[in-house]
Amino acid sequence: METATPRTHWSSRWAFILVTAGSAIGLGNIWKFPYMTGTNGGSAFVLVYLLCISCIGVPLLMAETMLGRRGQANPVGTMRRLIAEAGASRAWIAIGFIGILGALIILSFYSVVAGWILEYAARSFAGFASLTREQASANFSALLADPLRLISWHTAFMLLTGWVVASGVTSGIERANKIMMPALFAIIVLLIIYGIVAADMGAALRFMFHFDLGAVRREVVLSAMGHAFFTLSLGMGAIMAYGSYLDRETSITRTAFYVALADTGIALMAGLAIFAIVFAHGLEPASGPGLILQTLPLAFGQMPGGIVVGPLFFILVIFAAWTSSISLMEPFCSFLIERFGLSRRAAVVSMGFAAWLLGIAVALSFNEWSGVKILGLGIFDLLDTLTTKIMMPLAGLLIALFVGWVMHRR
Ligand code: PFF
Repeated sequence: METATPRTHWSSRWAFILVTAGSAIGLGNIWKFPYMTGTNGGSAFVLVYLLCISCIGVPLLMAETMLGRRGQANPVGTMRRLIAEAGASRAWIAIGFIGILGALIILSFYSVVAGWILEYAARSFAGFASLTREQASANFSALLADPLRLISWHTAFMLLTGWVVASGVTSGIERANKIMMPALFAIIVLLIIYGIVAADMGAALRFMFHFDLGAVRREVVLSAMGHAFFTLSLGMGAIMAYGSYLDRETSITRTAFYVALADTGIALMAGLAIFAIVFAHGLEPASGPGLILQTLPLAFGQMPGGIVVGPLFFILVIFAAWTSSISLMEPFCSFLIERFGLSRRAAVVSMGFAAWLLGIAVALSFNEWSGVKILGLGIFDLLDTLTTKIMMPLAGLLIALFVGWVMHRR
């Protein structure tokens, strides 16, 4: 049985907002949102995404925080308690398990992509001067074709994540978040200014905000809804785990609102900055997961001070990814600690190792194993689709039903 009391709590309401925003804001905003917008036709995707954030995302963010705070345990332990309290069917425990398993799967590919960013951070110190768009694309393809480099960076990122999670909740996670989020915001503002002055912000604005309802196809709706879950860290136990460290005084409604606002703001700004560069250089908006790595180096190579702004940007993206990956590791680890009495370090090693192994398969799916297809999808696409389009919406639906119809008021 879980032993979750006494439980540490965040040092203040702002600390909770900051860590939740830290979980929400990550590669989803800066890497995934722009490329998904590009591959899904631009404004149609943005429109559905915004609707999903406000109509589904914010209420679920509130519901999940509330579940965590009431349960005061890891996602599985929380569900077990709340089920007992409501006298409900044990099947609802699925919410907890879908969450911790989904988080493990996401962590595996998240870490590989964060590895790309590590590589680009390292490269950016030498600068990207006089890079052509063909070279920028070729550089990215060369990285994907190199399993050893992908796996090394993936390993480095997993170690970074495990290190913070092993060092405990308030000391590690909070401190890392407090400094990095505001800095990231500032540098994206800088990129927007670059987009206005030196790239094609007008075209970016038209591409993202010239809403055309006719372009909204079923596939776009599913992708945009899935992304709304992904970007707000919903359904994966992350918010539930963080909510469980929340005290009773904090307003959940206000917190959810701030977090969603910050998250959406950063995504839209990153999208505008990227597409201004895409259109100014005649690049292909639908070029897929490599989009930011094929565009931003061009901008950093040309802008004055790019040699400073480039490294700074990539380092901050790593921090944003880091604060998210921490929140992906925490739910499963707290489950192992509270359910099986593992030490925090042992929990981190077991969970981290499993996610690392799966991540190796993801890294290989870009090169050696690129021919491996399951249900017509490569390993990376399969894991992304499974979590974002199936597990997250399913967990979200179950949470909504549980909170709305099963749980009792106190
Ligand atoms: N929300 C994070 C991002 O946008 O990068 C990713 C994420 C973190 C998804 C935690 C799910 C999660 F539980």
